[in-house]
Amino acid sequence: MKASQFFVSTLKEAPADAEVASHRLMMRAGMIKKLGAGIYTYMPMGLRVIRKVEAIVREEMNRAGAVELSMPVVQPAELWQETGRFDKMGPELLRIKDRHDRDFVVQPTSEEVVTDIARQEIKSYKQLPRNFYQIQTKFRDERRPRFGLMRGREFIMKDAYSFDRDQASAKASYEVMAQAYRRIFDRFGLTYRAVAADSGAIGGDLSEEFQVIAATGEDAIVYCPNSDYAANMEKAQALAPAGLRAAPSQAMAKVATPGKSTCVDVAAYLGLPLESSLKSLVVATDTRDDKGGIVQSQVWLLLVRGDRSMNEVKVGKIPGLADFRFATLPEIDRHFGCEPGYLGPVGLKMPLKIVADREVALMSDWICGANDVDFHLRGVNWGRDLPEPDVVADIRNVVEGDASPDGKGPLAIERGIEIGHVFYLGTKYSQAMQATFLDVNGKPQFMEMGCYGIGITRLPAAAIEQNHDERGIIWPDALAPFTVVLCPISPDRFPAVKAAADQIYADLLAAGVDVILDDRGERPGAMFADWELIGVPHRITLGDRGLKEGQVEYQHRRDTVAASVPVADIVGLIQSRLAA
Ligand SMILES: Nc1ncnc2c1ncn2[C@@H]1O[C@H](COP(=O)(O)OP(=O)(O)O)[C@@H](O)[C@H]1O
Ligand SMILES: [Mg+2]
Repeated sequence: MKASQFFVSTLKEAPADAEVASHRLMMRAGMIKKLGAGIYTYMPMGLRVIRKVEAIVREEMNRAGAVELSMPVVQPAELWQETGRFDKMGPELLRIKDRHDRDFVVQPTSEEVVTDIARQEIKSYKQLPRNFYQIQTKFRDERRPRFGLMRGREFIMKDAYSFDRDQASAKASYEVMAQAYRRIFDRFGLTYRAVAADSGAIGGDLSEEFQVIAATGEDAIVYCPNSDYAANMEKAQALAPAGLRAAPSQAMAKVATPGKSTCVDVAAYLGLPLESSLKSLVVATDTRDDKGGIVQSQVWLLLVRGDRSMNEVKVGKIPGLADFRFATLPEIDRHFGCEPGYLGPVGLKMPLKIVADREVALMSDWICGANDVDFHLRGVNWGRDLPEPDVVADIRNVVEGDASPDGKGPLAIERGIEIGHVFYLGTKYSQAMQATFLDVNGKPQFMEMGCYGIGITRLPAAAIEQNHDERGIIWPDALAPFTVVLCPISPDRFPAVKAAADQIYADLLAAGVDVILDDRGERPGAMFADWELIGVPHRITLGDRGLKEGQVEYQHRRDTVAASVPVADIVGLIQSRLAA
């Protein structure tokens, strides 16, 4: 490619809304252009990167035995009604109507359509296993689109779906994908971690996220430096607290805590350790009739230690709490006779269910709200001052230093960017959509499914978070929009420079190297600044003086100085650098 025929458009300044390096640098390097919140044009320079991501993903998916198809972006609502997701999914799902007032969705993912294909096409166990994938535009009306391509509303995802005859085979298909993902992210040269994840609303219980390690990552990932334990914050557990609850040593006493409504303030005011206080959270669940009307509501009090934070995903796993919501003020008043800030489990007006975190169940002589504004109780003890909790469960987020659940030492926490996700789905969709096949005995069985996503447009952003400096992007070879840039200095004035540049350009092209020749006639400073910003990893500079001695200059984007290389050796050098 010649730069004069391509489109190079760089900016000195990034727009004010670009908060992270990848967003700033992709904008400045002219890779993306904003059209609306979370909606971007992939400009020629950015599209080349995306195409490279797609090519590697496609190659490895094909190698792993998946077959590519492409499903419509706009999908009729009927299939989504079959699984219930048309109603159940929140405003993230973009719902639109056609001219006949019929409902459609813009696909955020494609389980429904692919399951519909499978139930029509796959009749017999002989046609299984099968894995269909696509690289396709997605739309999710994200509440907080931000960081450019990192969390867009429109984005490109590779989504694959496996179909199997039984669980064992489905798990084998899942493993094949998990392995393919490792190969893919290795080829991109990224530092990443595969972490156990919650399978969430999608169902099933085998799920891993692939997280690119970066300080700006939106996800907290938890791992044990001494073992292979790694999980995301939603899923991570600490080793269960050991030992017995100490016997009560204090009498329960009501103490004035005027204006102190948080655990931190109360503990400080009373001069007691924060770890001896309890944080109360009130939630509720509703029983509904066939028409969706609420028949009955149950209020629950959740208790974690004052210095801990509640993990809502873990709460949702407790039997009966799957669809919990926060309690309303009237519900709180009916049960506690008090407003939030001074709530506690002692002396309730109306019975409710109490869920204590594992740590809380082992505490004695603790502090909690007195259900009386401006008052707390201290020296409170389970069994003596109130009944034992109804449920004891792990409902808190882990913190740095907690014991790893495998007993291999303390947990550490780092930030990550989710670039891929593998899920075992089970029969959730095949049951909802009656996707069956005939087994060896000729009996219909539900297909076992898995789904596997990669954020094609998020991946370059994650790569930049890991690979940049003050001058710009530093692409790993596999992702660079161009692998090599040729920078001739003043080729108009020095015919020898132009001739050598043209020759090396032709030789590199012939060698299959993705090279761009900068023939725009820019001054050296501006030319170097552009390519350093764009992040082309290998640069060859040709000047009249060097050429007179038969030399050109080679510099990797990470090198601080250029090296002189004989003209005759430069193509070989590039080839060996790319092979390494
Ligand atoms: N809003 C988005 N913008 C860019 N990429 C996204 C977005 N949402 C999801 N992705 C990418 O698609 C992959 C698969 O999506 P999925 O696991 O369903 O997303 P999520 O975990 O956000 O629900 C994610 O691992 C991520 O790389
Ligand atoms: Mg995910």
